[in-house]
Amino acid sequence: MQERPMTETADAVLTAPKGYTLEEVTWVHHWTDRLFSFRCTRAPALRFTSGQFTMIGLMVEGKPLTRAYSMVSPAWEEHLEFLSIKVPDGPLTSRLQHIRVGERVLIGQKPVGTLVPENLLPGRNLWLLATGTGLAPFMSLIRDPEIYDRYERVVLAHTVRQVAELAYRELITQELPRHELLGEMVAQKLIYLPAVTREPFPVQGRITTRLEQGLAEREAGVAPLSPEHDRAMICGSEAMNADCKALLEARGFVEGSNSAPGTYVLEKAFVTK
Ligand code: A2P
Repeated sequence: MQERPMTETADAVLTAPKGYTLEEVTWVHHWTDRLFSFRCTRAPALRFTSGQFTMIGLMVEGKPLTRAYSMVSPAWEEHLEFLSIKVPDGPLTSRLQHIRVGERVLIGQKPVGTLVPENLLPGRNLWLLATGTGLAPFMSLIRDPEIYDRYERVVLAHTVRQVAELAYRELITQELPRHELLGEMVAQKLIYLPAVTREPFPVQGRITTRLEQGLAEREAGVAPLSPEHDRAMICGSEAMNADCKALLEARGFVEGSNSAPGTYVLEKAFVTK
């Protein structure tokens, strides 16, 4: 019998383990057979900075099964939103992908992470380099007014294998520029660079290749990426992170952390199972 995420049946454990709250799923959206998003309620006491991640998961056989997930929703939003891959034999995502509105998820109460504005020195343009679900923390950041106060331009480069994996494309291109509070800042400052590597699309190719060839800057209409003026955040697979890190460091970028700000920061897009 297929295991279901925790529901409110008589024998379900309804108390959350220490450090977690149980939150109700309020919305689920499947982008593709490999990718989905969901929203849940947010405990009033949960505080985080846009760009951070927390542990989330399900109760399975009476025990918490959790993984690190970046918040897609900005810090000011009342609900929480997450973006996840679906792996058929992944311990958590094989279950989480079947979650339905009204069911409960575990949300860790101690968000952390390095992809936060304070970890970067002041600069001119901010480059947000994402592949796949690495987009999640940047969806939070591009809806936080603070990021637009700090930079002249925010360039969001999202690269995926297939067009359908360009999650949130409509929100970024249609809704955000018309948003009541963010619209003006987004329209003036946010530059969205969607790209696809395994299907025809106006922009094709990996972000690393496009940066090496100076194509990404041309797509964005901004000056060549330099540590003197620009800042970058990286979030993708381990291989993508390593290649972007090497590319930036070869240009003189220095990695920042929670203890010392730098000219770029990096975090892996966590859930792979
Ligand atoms: P590609 O199709 O050329 O492998 P994945 O789903 O495997 O995480 O890939 C998401 C996107 O990241 C794909 O467009 C993929 O391109 C790209 N990608 C994978 N590895 C790297 C890397 N080392 N550097 C830059 N981009 C990468």
